[in-house]
Amino acid sequence: MRRRPPGGPPGIMARMGMRTGTRTGAGPERQGPMWAAGEAYEPYVGRWSRLVAARFVRRLDAAPGGSWRDVGCGTGAVTQAVLDAAEPADVIGVDPSQDYLAYARRHVADRRARFLRADAEHLPFTGSSASAVVSGLVLNFVPDPARAAAEMVRVVRPGRLVGVYLWDYGEGGMEAIRAFWDAATALDPGARALDEAVRFPLCTRAALGGLLAGAGLRDVRTEETRVPTPFRDFADYWTPFLGGQGPAPAYLAGLPEDHRARLRERLRAALPRAADGTIALHARAWAARGRRAA
Ligand SMILES: C[S@@+](CC[C@H](N)C(=O)[O-])C[C@H]1O[C@@H](n2cnc3c(N)ncnc32)[C@H](O)[C@@H]1O
Repeated sequence: MRRRPPGGPPGIMARMGMRTGTRTGAGPERQGPMWAAGEAYEPYVGRWSRLVAARFVRRLDAAPGGSWRDVGCGTGAVTQAVLDAAEPADVIGVDPSQDYLAYARRHVADRRARFLRADAEHLPFTGSSASAVVSGLVLNFVPDPARAAAEMVRVVRPGRLVGVYLWDYGEGGMEAIRAFWDAATALDPGARALDEAVRFPLCTRAALGGLLAGAGLRDVRTEETRVPTPFRDFADYWTPFLGGQGPAPAYLAGLPEDHRARLRERLRAALPRAADGTIALHARAWAARGRRAA
């Protein structure tokens, strides 16, 4: 195969609006092209995000009632978990993606939920009115996570919770995406610069806890959440990567057809398949929470 310069196949970075060497690698997400189809996000990550969200909200053990915020709510996974488990008075989800917000409005059938278009770095709330602020799988996509964390602290009431979680993209973490980048990099070493484990150093227990402590939260605690991510067969694993939602699918969309086919076959051979064709993977997320000083 023709060698490519570090930083990825020619043209792909530009097509993705991606810059290398940025602090968070959040270039393409800011422009939002990969967060443009809620229907495609759900089978890719939404179905697993919902499992983590449910456990995360239950473990927060927040007092019932109150007004919650879900930052980077996307298609509504965390908002729905809050509605299901926390008995909130209301939840306001914010996200820059119009399409994801539209999906959330269609699917979160609860009068207590509202969705607004906004950026995590500029939350559209004056004063400290929230009883709890949560955010799932978002902060690594925000250009300035420290600013987003400061915003979450600003809008939460004194003494109340801010809680966040992110995938662990490394070995033993979000295995479906880890397997993708391992195969992609084996075929094209330049893809390593796009690997989420490389681009997102925030996605570790220590870094996430440090972010919240650095934002001034007290009693910061971190924990692991591990969920099964079972795939019925290889098509159930592969097809959602074709939907363009998130860094790995965006990379895939920019590949020539023959390269995409080689990557598919490499993954088909590499993934551990049971006799009945099922693929039993797992995903680990790191969660962190803290309280604003009373
Ligand atoms: C992986 S999805 C997570 C969505 C949802 N929270 C979940 O758990 O399924 C990442 C989300 O971050 C949102 N996002 C990207 N950049 C953002 C920013 N600067 N501020 C707020 N949200 C952002 C995207 O629009 C997308 O909905």
